[in-house]
Amino acid sequence: MQQQFNDKNSDIQIWVKDKLVPRAEAKVSVFDSAVQGGDAVWEGIRVYNGRIFCLDRHLERMQNSAHALAFANVPTNEYITDAIRQTLNANGMQDGAHIRLTLTRGEKTTSGMDPRLNQFGCTLIVLAEWKPPVYPPSIKLITSSIRRNNPMFLDSKIHHNNLLNNILAKIEANYAGADEAIMLDMNGFVAETNSVNIFCIRNGQVLSPTPDACLPGITRGLVIELCKENGIPVAERNLSLTEFYTADEVFCTGTMGELTRVSEIDGREIVNKSHLEVLAEVQGYFRKLTEEWGTPIGH
Ligand SMILES: Cc1ncc(COP(=O)(O)O)c(C=O)c1O
Repeated sequence: MQQQFNDKNSDIQIWVKDKLVPRAEAKVSVFDSAVQGGDAVWEGIRVYNGRIFCLDRHLERMQNSAHALAFANVPTNEYITDAIRQTLNANGMQDGAHIRLTLTRGEKTTSGMDPRLNQFGCTLIVLAEWKPPVYPPSIKLITSSIRRNNPMFLDSKIHHNNLLNNILAKIEANYAGADEAIMLDMNGFVAETNSVNIFCIRNGQVLSPTPDACLPGITRGLVIELCKENGIPVAERNLSLTEFYTADEVFCTGTMGELTRVSEIDGREIVNKSHLEVLAEVQGYFRKLTEEWGTPIGH
C-alpha cells in the first residue's frame, strides 16, 4: 500500500510557526530541532462533516508529549485550535481532510543537542491535506525484526518524531510486498504495527495488546469504549503472534486509516471460524461516531 499524490494538494496553505503560507513556501529552518534531532511531537487528526474529530484528545496527547519532553513556550490549546481552524478555512476543507499537526522544540541558536539552545519558542506546523482514509478494505502484514520501543528506551506514550524504528519496520514490509509490519515488544508479544494499533477477535471477544510498548492510540481507545458501551466483550492483555494467526478476525486502528481488516499475517490467512461479524459491527459504531462527533470548524 503506497499513498498517491493528490493534485488537489498542490497549492494548499500550510501553517508554519505563526502564519499561513503557500505549500511552496512552507519550510522550517535548518536550525529547527526537528531537522537536528527529530526533536518534535505530532498528531494525525481527521476532519469529517465540518468537524475536527477528537480534537480535545489529540491536543491533550500533544500537550502531554511536549511536557514529557520538557518543551518550553508551548502554544496554548486555544492558539493551536485557532491555527487549525484558520488552516482548514483557508483551504476550504470541511470533510475528507487529514491534518498532520507537528510541534517542534523550535529553532536553535547554533547546531547542537542541548535544549537550552532553543530560545525562540516552539515551531507549530498545521499541514492539512485532502486525504480520505488511506488503506484498502483489507491489508496484509508481516512481522518485523525491529522491536517497538519499550519505556526502558523511549516511552511510546510520547508521540514523538523519532520514527526510525517504525520506518525500518515499514521498509521490511515494503521488501516483503506487505502493507505494514507488526512490531513485537521486548518480550516477543505483539505491540502494534509500524503505524497503527492492532486488535484480534477470538470467539467474539475483542483483544488488544496492553499499551506498554504501543502508542495508546486515540482510535484504539475509542474502539475499546465502543465495545464496552455496546456489550461486546473486550480485554487488554499480552498477545502472542500465534493468537493473531489463529484469530477469527484481526484489524488495525488509526486516524489515517480508521478500522482496517487484516487478511493475512506472515503468509497465514486469517480465517473466521466463529462466523461472527464483530469487526463489521464495531466499524458501524465507529462510522456513526465520525458522523456525529467533533469540534465544529466554524469560520
Ligand atoms: C505508531 C503508531 N501507532 C498507532 C497510531 C494510531 O493512533 P491514533 O489512533 O491516535 O491515530 C499512530 C498514529 O499516529 C502511530 O504513529
